[in-house]
Amino acid sequence: MKYEKEINRRRTFAIISHPDAGKTTLTEKLLLFGGAIQTAGAVKSNKIKKHATSDFMEIERQRGISVATSVMTFEYKNCLINLLDTPGHKDFAEDTYRTLTAVDSVILVIDSVNGVEDQTRRLMEVCRMRDTPVIVFINKMDRDGKNRFDLLEEIEKELKISLHPMTLPINSGKDFKGVYNLHNKSLLLFTANTKADEEDTFVISNLNDKILDNKIGERDATQLREDVELVDGVYGELNVEDYLAGKIAPVFFGSAVNNFGVKEMLDTFINVAPTPLCRETSIREVCPGEEKFSGFVFKIHANLDPKHRDRIAFMRICSGKFERNKYYHHVRLDKDIRFSNPYSFLARSKDVIEDAFPGDVIGLFDTGNFKIGDTLTEGENFFFTGIPTFSPEIFKELVNKDPMKTKQLEKGIQQLTDEGVAQLFTQFGGNKKIIGCVGELQFEVIQYRLLQEYGAACEFRALPFYKACWLTSNDEKKLEDFLRFKQTNSAEDKDGNPVYLAQSEWFLNTEITNNPDIEFHFSNEVHK
Ligand code: G4P
Repeated sequence: MKYEKEINRRRTFAIISHPDAGKTTLTEKLLLFGGAIQTAGAVKSNKIKKHATSDFMEIERQRGISVATSVMTFEYKNCLINLLDTPGHKDFAEDTYRTLTAVDSVILVIDSVNGVEDQTRRLMEVCRMRDTPVIVFINKMDRDGKNRFDLLEEIEKELKISLHPMTLPINSGKDFKGVYNLHNKSLLLFTANTKADEEDTFVISNLNDKILDNKIGERDATQLREDVELVDGVYGELNVEDYLAGKIAPVFFGSAVNNFGVKEMLDTFINVAPTPLCRETSIREVCPGEEKFSGFVFKIHANLDPKHRDRIAFMRICSGKFERNKYYHHVRLDKDIRFSNPYSFLARSKDVIEDAFPGDVIGLFDTGNFKIGDTLTEGENFFFTGIPTFSPEIFKELVNKDPMKTKQLEKGIQQLTDEGVAQLFTQFGGNKKIIGCVGELQFEVIQYRLLQEYGAACEFRALPFYKACWLTSNDEKKLEDFLRFKQTNSAEDKDGNPVYLAQSEWFLNTEITNNPDIEFHFSNEVHK
């Protein structure tokens, strides 16, 4: 295998959570472990505060500043870790979902007080579709949270994934005393604000040892012994194969803000998390160890600041070695392009890089060459599959306010949808243009950009849809009839694929039941 050493030390992952569960705090602790930042608060200052503002320009401005935090690269124990950010507050967008197509595994943060929340559910659906390996971090154990076993049950049930506890907490809230590591049979006592190298750890190979009672008190020691017996009986040893197949998720309890339980998780993560994986393309599987370079674009960041009108395409490298100034083949455009200023994302700054390896994400300055899902190769004609479009969650009709600027509006919306800012559907028969997004903010962004960049004024009218389903059928006649009968709910996407726009889950389920010959898909591959 070519570049074996580089590939084997890379781990590319994302942290997913519902807003406020502690993603930023955990990110920061991981970066501190990796030495990528020196002080707490460095990431936070880049974070888009939920209460800060509702002004999207301000949010976009901050987003521009924090391009560098879209991908954070740090080293830990000889591993090179690429952490991809998944925006979650007001800037929650389809990008957030799509980032998950560029990682090899995820860490899921759950707030022990709130349990499984909405955004977690949505993000986990994408992980399940792709069988992404998941590690769960149950955070905020220093607060009075839900019962540990109730939490495990809730996560299993709600997220449809089997869990494997790696640590067990001793109480929570004010009584939180620490965690017991089931794997290396050690007790980790809770102290607030633990530094990276000072931890109160005791190896307790025999749980019946009185030392346990001395450390945490008789009552809690008895409880822990019962808990461990129960868990050992049910779970046994972690089956890493099952984790890698996305079937079982190891679980850690801790408190990110106190840097407690984080190191345990990180150490397990670097041991078990997958190195860059092979990926499917339109013609064959491409593996990281191949000699020739290939990669795909999963996100395009357009800068709204008029002074910096550049776009950055984020490319995940899948095989071979990427080199600066070398010509690569842009498969969709069938042309060769080279990049003189590709950059890597270190937590501190954007650095121009000379080369990059599978698992890495690089930023390429773009003047309009890239669409989401585009593939670069060293000449071979294939494109990566598995970069789907997911159903939007908010739908609005695009209304042209200036008929003299129709052309500009069409061009603008075409380009913005290429960037993945939103999805465009055209209603069958009626020609109504429907824009779909996953976050409300995107509509403001689109309106603003259409006016600023294309001189086209538009407004949006709310539509009562909640989901788009792509339709396929072996029986073309049935599909045609369905689209005709359901004209108000039928549209085609940008590439002409038929789509059903459902008003509610009830309508959707009814249509699915009534039309057994038609398949309803909740995502669509960018390329088919
Ligand atoms: P997010 O990125 O997932 O949205 O969450 P973030 O890390 O910003 O954490 C949300 C809030 O939860 C923050 O408080 C953070 O300090 C707090 N937090 C994170 N981990 C823990 C934990 O283990 N225990 C407790 N008790 N709190 C935790 P905030 O008041 O919203 O922000 P800040 O003023 O502290 O910055």
